[in-house]
Amino acid sequence: MILSIDTSCDETSAAVVLGRRVLSNVIYSQVLLHKKWGGVVPSIAKRAHEERIDFVVDSAIKKVFRQKNLFTSKLASRLSSGSVAICSSSSDEGSLHRNFFDYINAIAVTVGPGLAPALEVGIKKAKELAKKFNKKIISVNHLEGHIYSPFVQNSKGNPKIDFHFPYLVLTVSGGHTSLVIFEDHLKYKVIGETIDDAAGEALDKAAKLLGLGYPGGPVIERLAREVNNRDFYQFPRPMVSSDNLNFSFSGLKTSFYYFFKKMKEEEKVEKVRELSSSFQQAVFETLIIKTEKAIKKTGIKNLALVGGVSANLYLRKLFRNLAKKYNGQVLFPAFKYLTGDNAAMIGVVASFKAQKNLFVSDIKNLDRMPRMSL
Ligand code: KG4
Ligand code: ZN
Repeated sequence: MILSIDTSCDETSAAVVLGRRVLSNVIYSQVLLHKKWGGVVPSIAKRAHEERIDFVVDSAIKKVFRQKNLFTSKLASRLSSGSVAICSSSSDEGSLHRNFFDYINAIAVTVGPGLAPALEVGIKKAKELAKKFNKKIISVNHLEGHIYSPFVQNSKGNPKIDFHFPYLVLTVSGGHTSLVIFEDHLKYKVIGETIDDAAGEALDKAAKLLGLGYPGGPVIERLAREVNNRDFYQFPRPMVSSDNLNFSFSGLKTSFYYFFKKMKEEEKVEKVRELSSSFQQAVFETLIIKTEKAIKKTGIKNLALVGGVSANLYLRKLFRNLAKKYNGQVLFPAFKYLTGDNAAMIGVVASFKAQKNLFVSDIKNLDRMPRMSL
């Protein structure tokens, strides 16, 4: 059983996992704090993580006992068989924690990539708990978490999918866009990544220009759906003719910017759906073209789509069609919370690392790695 923590960006999250099963997962989103700035402000993120981390870890621990399954009820009755009443009053909390940590094998924490000041908060907490309860630490790359997210199960062990390596994984989030071959457990080969903006970042910037607020992806999805995801303006599909599998979205952003600036003020408002849909189409078609190139290059037909943008139902449809064309399988994170940032996926990676004895050897030297690659 692993307690995991992720504070890589603007979500404070802690989870308790047992292998691939999530016994509890708590996410405290800071999105409202950053909304008025139109994006994540690192210093605000750090402060908010600091203010909430204890509460979030505590809630994740307590939630384990509210699960109604065999393992947790057995655990709860063992913990409460002494003088400790589970979650009964605050004075019992210290002993609850002590008892709970008897059952924890390790503490997992995201060390990168992400915002340095934000990562620091989770790492500090993990170290503090590891020292206090004499536990080992497992350091996890945030991107590995997203890659494992389709394999994360609920406390009952659903969905019951097995691993059939290799997979071609497209990660699309606010900070990352990459194509990775997931070769085997903990073995990855990056075959393409963005050279500038990430796909989610591009959607967020377009939404900001259109005055739609932050984060932009979900609003753009909704507006595009209202015009049946049609392409009205044919914005450029960046780098699709080049043979490599890298992405670039800053040129598209610029061309969208100039197109928008030239529009009359009334038209900008009138055509917000058409603009949203056309921009989304340009981003998604680029993702699909590159993924198809990757299928052809690698021969891998089993696909996975992960990261914040994988919540988009239209992109999922395009991905399903692509997999169908090549008689392949396609995986998505099974639960909505697994598309965004969460500690559950970090805990699941950590369980596979624990099986291979991949613990941090010297906790003192554990440090944030904001630019960590896979
Ligand atoms: O994975 P994530 O929560 O955080 C990072 O690690 O970056 O991804 C956040 C990104 C944002 O850019 C957000 O606009 C985008 O995911 N996003 C979506 C949708 N929901 C979130 N993009 C398109 N459609 C959505 N439904
Ligand atoms: Zn993420």
